[in-house]
Amino acid sequence: MTQGEGHVSGAGPGAEITRTGDPDYDFGGACFDLDKPGDREIVRFILSQALFGEATGVYCGKSLYAAGSLEAARFYVRQAKQELAHLQLFADIFRALDMKPVPAHWVVKLLSSHNNYYPLKVLMEHAIGEGMVLDIFKDLLLQTLPDSDPRVPLIKKKLRLVCREEEEHIAWGEKETRRLLAEKPWLKTPYFGLLELQMSVLPMLVRAFEKRAGNHPVLVHLPGFLAHVQRRVYEQGKALGFVPDTRPGAAKRAAAMSFGLAVFARSQFARSESKLEKIYIEELGLG
Ligand SMILES: [Fe+2]
Ligand SMILES: [Fe+2]
Repeated sequence: MTQGEGHVSGAGPGAEITRTGDPDYDFGGACFDLDKPGDREIVRFILSQALFGEATGVYCGKSLYAAGSLEAARFYVRQAKQELAHLQLFADIFRALDMKPVPAHWVVKLLSSHNNYYPLKVLMEHAIGEGMVLDIFKDLLLQTLPDSDPRVPLIKKKLRLVCREEEEHIAWGEKETRRLLAEKPWLKTPYFGLLELQMSVLPMLVRAFEKRAGNHPVLVHLPGFLAHVQRRVYEQGKALGFVPDTRPGAAKRAAAMSFGLAVFARSQFARSESKLEKIYIEELGLG
């Protein structure tokens, strides 16, 4: 396992995110032109997905109910506040660029849908979901918004702040994923199946732009960027210990996906179980 981003304080001691040693995807200096209507449409689409993601991110507050320690409770309160602030920051970016958001793409809605089953929420939203959010903010937006545009430096300053906080959220998600896997090793297979499913719907998100991809300096990178994100997520899953080193054959993958879907389907009817009132005395060191 390799780690790239250094210590992240909010997720507690030893929490580092499992970015591989790979460099971030390189867009080769390609940028959008924020004065061109076609480019503005694409940036509007990307920012609209981000805005929706931040709005649903606030529901991490719901994990407070399932938090199994005071550390977890503290984290979710802090994260919910940060996600609310991100929502506002993206609204500021829309205003700065004189844009109005469009509804979120169905893939983004699917990937960010709330899950009441805590182990799935932790893996799918915090570890993997927010990991991909960071790819979009850090690799895509920070590289392809043009510094020559007078509105961009302030926007990038806001985005960098968001990225730092997203790194903390991922670090937490990964730490919790490791803990849950140690506690419930049977989760490995459904986790792997769900990751396969998530990776299989990802290309549908960029399909709308494929026709234009050939002659646009940024869009031409989309297939490469998509492959980079998928590769990085598989590496993340390997580092967390639920993705096998060599990709299993189609039958095993299909079985893992069915298991993942079954756990996911069951999770849709799960009621989250409250914890703090059962553990507070011990957690406070008064036991
Ligand atoms: Fe966020
Ligand atoms: Fe986040």
